Amino acid sequence: MTARDDQTPSPIRLADYRPPAWRVERIELEFELGIDSAEVRSRLQLARDPQQQAPLRLDGEGLELLFIALDGRTLHEGDYRYRGNTLEVDGARDGSVLETRVRVQPAANTALEGLYLSGSRDRGFLLTQCEAEGFRHITFFPDRPDVLARYTVTLCADRERFPVLLAGGNPDGAGELPGGRHWARFVDPYPKPCYLFALVAGRLQKLERDYRTADGRDVRLVIWAEPDVIDCCGYAMDALERAMRWDERAYGRNFDLSVFHVVATHDFNMGAMENKGLNIFNAKYLLADPDTTTDDEYRAVEAVIGHEYFHNWSGNRVTCRDWFQLSLKEGLTVFREQQFSADMNSAPLKRIDDVALLRRAQFPEDAGPLAHPVRPAHYSEINNFYTATVYEKGSELVRMLAGRLGPEGFRRGMDLYFGRNDGRAATLEDFLAALGQANGIDLAPYLAWYGQAGTPRLVAEGRYDAQRREYALILRQHTPPTPGQPDKRPLPIPVKLALFGPDGRMLPLHDGAAEQVVVLDAAEQTFVFTGIEHAPVPSLLRGFSAPVILECAYAPAGLALLLTHDTDGFNRWEAAQQLAWRAYAELRDGSGHEALTVWGDTLAGLFGQGALDHALLADLLTPPGEVELAERETDVDPSRIHALRQTLQRELAARIGAAVLAERYRELAAHAGDALDAPSQARRRLKRRVLELLALLDAPTAQALAATQFDRAATMTDRLAALAVLVRDEAPQAAGALARYRERHAGNALALDKWFAVQAQLPGEAALARVRALEADPKFTLKNPNRVQALLGTFARGNPSGFHRADGEGYRLLAARLAELDALNPQVAARLATAFNGWQRLEPVRREQARAAVAELAEKDLSRNLAEIVGNMLKG
Ligand code: TRP
Ligand code: ZN
Repeated sequence: MTARDDQTPSPIRLADYRPPAWRVERIELEFELGIDSAEVRSRLQLARDPQQQAPLRLDGEGLELLFIALDGRTLHEGDYRYRGNTLEVDGARDGSVLETRVRVQPAANTALEGLYLSGSRDRGFLLTQCEAEGFRHITFFPDRPDVLARYTVTLCADRERFPVLLAGGNPDGAGELPGGRHWARFVDPYPKPCYLFALVAGRLQKLERDYRTADGRDVRLVIWAEPDVIDCCGYAMDALERAMRWDERAYGRNFDLSVFHVVATHDFNMGAMENKGLNIFNAKYLLADPDTTTDDEYRAVEAVIGHEYFHNWSGNRVTCRDWFQLSLKEGLTVFREQQFSADMNSAPLKRIDDVALLRRAQFPEDAGPLAHPVRPAHYSEINNFYTATVYEKGSELVRMLAGRLGPEGFRRGMDLYFGRNDGRAATLEDFLAALGQANGIDLAPYLAWYGQAGTPRLVAEGRYDAQRREYALILRQHTPPTPGQPDKRPLPIPVKLALFGPDGRMLPLHDGAAEQVVVLDAAEQTFVFTGIEHAPVPSLLRGFSAPVILECAYAPAGLALLLTHDTDGFNRWEAAQQLAWRAYAELRDGSGHEALTVWGDTLAGLFGQGALDHALLADLLTPPGEVELAERETDVDPSRIHALRQTLQRELAARIGAAVLAERYRELAAHAGDALDAPSQARRRLKRRVLELLALLDAPTAQALAATQFDRAATMTDRLAALAVLVRDEAPQAAGALARYRERHAGNALALDKWFAVQAQLPGEAALARVRALEADPKFTLKNPNRVQALLGTFARGNPSGFHRADGEGYRLLAARLAELDALNPQVAARLATAFNGWQRLEPVRREQARAAVAELAEKDLSRNLAEIVGNMLKG
């Protein structure tokens, strides 16, 4: 393994944490902004930790040092050393002021970290991205989250080229300068770590709204975007207002500056960024209009707007001591966003979406070579740890704690957490201590969840004693080994449960309650329920009360009962998933068709009844995806899984019947329009599912309906659903529809991304040639992360039967692109490389092809980001 950096990267360890020897109390920054070159003047007011003797060392990467002075005295060679990525300065003392001037090159920055250019040289704008360690690409600073400073930022630039100048904090003056230049200043009264610094400069337009917080502060909300898309910001503005009101109500948290800026960019490595007072969004999660945005994307905009806004408290006012505590802000903020989205929309549907995501993205991570605890013990490149484990599993851990305390207890705990840690850089221990102490409960046992990787298996067995009218529930747990953690401890697992009688009614438990939470905190425990009149069907892990894999030998009839009668919407869906899993296994193993019959007939029955919510019905009719099915197998053959899943769905479609499906489709299609209300969205979701099922039974009819739907669609949801059916089936109408889509949305980057993505999903052998052709499209570029994700990300992660070719060509294509991409943007390359996760469980032929492709990539000169992923991938 070679790594591009001069020093071999040694891992950073949680156990090595030391408080900073030097802090910065204030920082004054002055920018002279230009496209090719920008100068950054900085003035740091330093404070020394009297306990430590270390010399002043600051982080700085790729900075051209133009000037340096300490306490007003210009420094010369010998007074300081700038080597590798560290500046060491002699003679600093407590209270010293260090001044530097550096030059950086925004337009040449393709990594999109630090100060960079979004869009073209003549029309694009400048912006920064600092989390996790981008600030060191802008100026010299102790780039670690436990150094909190007060920022004064002055931006100077040509007025014509950069009419809008923004930084985080409250505005503190602006004016003209000679030579057609101007300036603007911002002061942030709240001490913050440097990863929350941001600036934006360019030709942007705005959408504004006045807001008064619950505690009486007037705030101006401003969303900024390039002129061609400023009309697509209204939905985000409404969502922002909803998020702010919600945080006031649900957590008593108010906004704390006089202005809140939000900016959209098409060039962004991740979803969005919570910079203090100046959130920056990937356009994908901000812009929305009915002609180009699907229903799912509308909900994603609302969720990400909420997520970034909620960070103002969970992340900014209370930040992280070090990057090992990342889930302190991310897990908590994902949880807050999930609560918000559940309140704004349908709570059970939101839970289904989130658990499906956890299973699709986090379970495979936890089961493969990249497995790590929610609080990792070491890393080489922190950007590789913005993972589903830190975010999604982290949120599940907060949910367990919240469930343990109940709504009022959790709120009490959160009030104490925010109050006590305001303005501090905190740890996960601080979080658990505040939640526990506010409630007189010791939550320390839950800390084990943060340190142990792997998804626990929860095995449940029920025994009914008719004579004694007792039901005994035996629960066992075990967690498989993960890299570096061979032995696992039992964890506290809260199991929310109810018991159902044969008539589908809930049986009263001990105190007459219908639902109860038992906590398994040993390897095995038995819970006895008395006065149970019938052998019950247990509804376990209701609402997905813990992030585990439940193994319970239900009879298919028991699952059908839950699917039909459970009062927990999530567990109804879960029963359908479990049945589908069994049915799939029967097809695969040729082991009968009991579950298949029960699954198909029960769903066909529910389909006939009008009572169910359309969206829930659509979800019930969707079996686990190909990635989730592969999770439970060894010697994985993705093309076989694809074929079996198609057969499974065809069986379901046949039980419902082509005529019934077509009739239902016409009913649903009769409601046209682009309304965004929940029933309209639900109707579109079911309509799509019905069309997909029909396509498996009667392709010509479904394709004709899809072609009409495509032409007449009033929403992107309907247009894209129809297009997907045509493309996937390689229908005769597909090429024409793709051409018309391309023409209609030629000028819209986000719509074009979907055009690439829908084709990258072409199943089976045909995918590779299509992806190659699309790579040659003039609109394809490795420089734009969204475009890379749309084509290569969708192919490698969202199309198992297309990517995992037995001849290994899919693997070689990805490996070759990763090497090219790594030279431009290491963060995006490293994230895309995780698509190789799971290669060890492939069947032997593919396994060897994948191993060889990854091993060959590992021989190249790679960034630290990609080297760490590829290296871990090959270990073990
Ligand atoms: N903190 C951001 C969030 O989850 C995510 C983030 C981390 C990010 N690193 C980034 C965004 C780099 C863009 C680029 O809300
Ligand atoms: Zn976040």
